[in-house]
Amino acid sequence: MAKVHFLTEDLLVEAPLGTSLPDIADASGADITFGCRSGSCGTCRVRVAMGLEHCSSMTAEERDFLSQLGVPSDQRLACQVSVQGDIAVEYLGIEP
Ligand code: FES
Repeated sequence: MAKVHFLTEDLLVEAPLGTSLPDIADASGADITFGCRSGSCGTCRVRVAMGLEHCSSMTAEERDFLSQLGVPSDQRLACQVSVQGDIAVEYLGIEP
């Protein structure tokens, strides 16, 4: 199991390893807004405050999208992440 800490609302939940972050957020009621769920709108952007190494690898498309936004490397599109261990995320959204 992985512990996922949603920092924005200080919500701590557990999920099986490999679960997608959107599934965890949906099941727990975490306050992350999802739009496209395919990595193309940016509404689900989060900062991974802990456990970046426990997130699934970025696709080239996600990397390109985030680099166009010019955001730090600790940020991910939540809809593109599955959880491989304990993480903590802060919801940011599309606004810079
Ligand atoms: S929901 Fe659109 S990029 Fe994640």
